[in-house]
Amino acid sequence: MTNKLTVLSGIRPTGYLHLGNYFGAVRSFVKMQHDYNCFFFIADIHSLTTHPTPENLQAGVKQVLAEYLACGIDPEKATIFIQSDVPEVSELYAFLNMNAYLGELERTTSFKDKARQQPDNVNAGLLTYPVLMAADILIHKANFVPVGKDQEQNLEMARKFAQRFNYMYKTELFPLPKPYTFDGKDMIKVPGLDGSGKMGKSEGNAINLYEDPKDIRKKVMRAVTDSGPTEPNQPKSEPVENLFTLLKIVSTPDTVAHFDALYNNCEIRYGDLKKQLAEDIIAYTSPIRERIIENLKDEAYLGRVAKLGAEKARESAARTLQEVKEVIGFKRLF
Ligand code: TRP
Repeated sequence: MTNKLTVLSGIRPTGYLHLGNYFGAVRSFVKMQHDYNCFFFIADIHSLTTHPTPENLQAGVKQVLAEYLACGIDPEKATIFIQSDVPEVSELYAFLNMNAYLGELERTTSFKDKARQQPDNVNAGLLTYPVLMAADILIHKANFVPVGKDQEQNLEMARKFAQRFNYMYKTELFPLPKPYTFDGKDMIKVPGLDGSGKMGKSEGNAINLYEDPKDIRKKVMRAVTDSGPTEPNQPKSEPVENLFTLLKIVSTPDTVAHFDALYNNCEIRYGDLKKQLAEDIIAYTSPIRERIIENLKDEAYLGRVAKLGAEKARESAARTLQEVKEVIGFKRLF
């Protein structure tokens, strides 16, 4: 063990990584693996709340693993693992459930949202989702959890459960996990292609890293714009600003300056801008996409990575679980 601080983050295997995930998080994970003791895992148990078929579950897990690796997460540096490979997590989850209260779980925003979205499947796993997430975090005694805004409340609950456990058993076993916010320059909010808001899996406005160049062109050409500037140096509308933001992320400063000047002279043709944007996105994502394809083909490699990750994660998890059991009183006296 090193004396580095521990960072942990998880992702549910329910879709492809998109540019928003990449620039908002995964690219920073790649940097963090040098400075922190990092755990990045695939939350396959969490994904059971929506009842995937076994085939979809397996394909989803494989995809995320291939994508994490393609983005540059190094299995020798960080611990990349699959949640269900570490049964200690489920054990801690059972213990933590005894100190999680119905009222507070029912009040969680993500529970209320999910209950509204899937009224025919309001299962207990949805209710205790934050408890399982707390178990994920606490079992490795994570100090920092890089999460987006939508997960802040879950992280707050993890802190609350940790604090409650520590207080109840008069221990300092669990450090209180803090949200990790990337400093301004690292954290890029990637807008979607639908004119407003950020890129998101469920918003249907995303470009995936795995996306075929043909589809990237199609999606970008369909992006929302406006009817064009009518006077020089006019402020940009949100949809157009968003396209420029994307251009700044993937294109050279010269390209951005070129289209900016055209816009400011009212000579811009959005079609040209979109064509350039699509090609620059393709140039950026193509090497990643190729690595994803290679990884997906190399099941032996993916298997080795998962096995190595599971071993490292289980070792860390078993250590914490042992301490937890002693504190709780699961100590044989006979
Ligand atoms: N709930 C997270 C999400 O939907 C995934 C997740 C599960 C997670 N366990 C975690 C994230 C632990 C950070 C830490 O995105």
